[in-house]
Amino acid sequence: MHEYPSDRVDLRSDTVTQPTADMRIAMQNALVGDDVLGDDPTVIELQNKISNMLGKEAALFVSSGTMSNAVAIRAHTNPGDEIITEETSHIYVYEAGGYAALSGCSVALVPGKLGIMIPDDVAIAIRKSDGSLGHFPNGSLVCVENTSNRGGGTCYPQEILDKIAKIAHDNDCQAHMDGARMFNAAVATGTDPARIVRDYDSISICLSKGLGAPVGSVLVGSKQFIAKAHRWRKMFGGGMRQAGILAAGGLFALDHHIDRMAEDHTRAHVLAERLNGNFGLSIDASTVQTNMVYADTERPAREVVEALGEQGVDIFDLRPNTIRLVTHLHITDEDIERTVAAFASI
Ligand SMILES: Cc1ncc(COP(=O)(O)O)c(C=O)c1O
Repeated sequence: MHEYPSDRVDLRSDTVTQPTADMRIAMQNALVGDDVLGDDPTVIELQNKISNMLGKEAALFVSSGTMSNAVAIRAHTNPGDEIITEETSHIYVYEAGGYAALSGCSVALVPGKLGIMIPDDVAIAIRKSDGSLGHFPNGSLVCVENTSNRGGGTCYPQEILDKIAKIAHDNDCQAHMDGARMFNAAVATGTDPARIVRDYDSISICLSKGLGAPVGSVLVGSKQFIAKAHRWRKMFGGGMRQAGILAAGGLFALDHHIDRMAEDHTRAHVLAERLNGNFGLSIDASTVQTNMVYADTERPAREVVEALGEQGVDIFDLRPNTIRLVTHLHITDEDIERTVAAFASI
């Protein structure tokens, strides 16, 4: 569906999606209450729905994916602890060092291949204060990102996810999944979301990426964990009053926009096939697993972005010779054709 207030083809990110007409009606009609007082029925419905879908006890609606990760890290750790995460993870690269500023944690970075960590590398990266004569920080939280954004929208194989969670637990660490795009992984791998996250203590789901809601994320976990998270959300200024209007967009997305992500994935594959080896672009097809296409460019990536922009197609340059294109609910087959034609013309 194009349903976009512009005739540009915006492939910069799946965060650019706008609420569709039907989603807006659901938002407009949402019953609301004061969620800080705990009585917004639509927020409660969203939290219940997503915790059921993920097979966990409870959930908490928050304003963004960054807040969700920040609240999770704060609720799982103590100042002086260390989090363990992949070297290109959103938590490390793009969240303003929140783990340090808001939680007082250091970070142990784990190498990854296309954003995916190997369980043995995670085990090596976990440092415990106990037994180190007090030299080491206390590694207490392992974070995985599924799908991996900087990895190219790649999905963790289930056995790797399970092994990493086991390593975390065997080492007295909690396991957190930044599942901003976990539903893309579920659709792409044909796996039940509850199975994907089974061994994880907390999961952050973004409603405003491929799912297409305008605002919000949901942090999911045990009742005990969510009670702690609730307190940190309050302290971080994240308590929202009549938030049901926003939650209604999320509920609509969970009902209507999950299965259709398969279309985004198909279009990303088509785009990759059409571009690879042409127009000075090379793409490793094995990296195109969900809705993202990373391409290496012969010309400086910035130049490519500017030239395409003049043709009405917006993309991002991520490295000096790498561009990223992301499909989402407003990108049609026709938009893919326009994009290929734009590359041919620059
Ligand atoms: C993997 C991942 N985690 C977290 C976030 C943060 O989400 P937000 O922009 O809502 O803070 C993003 C945003 O792109 C992301 O890609």
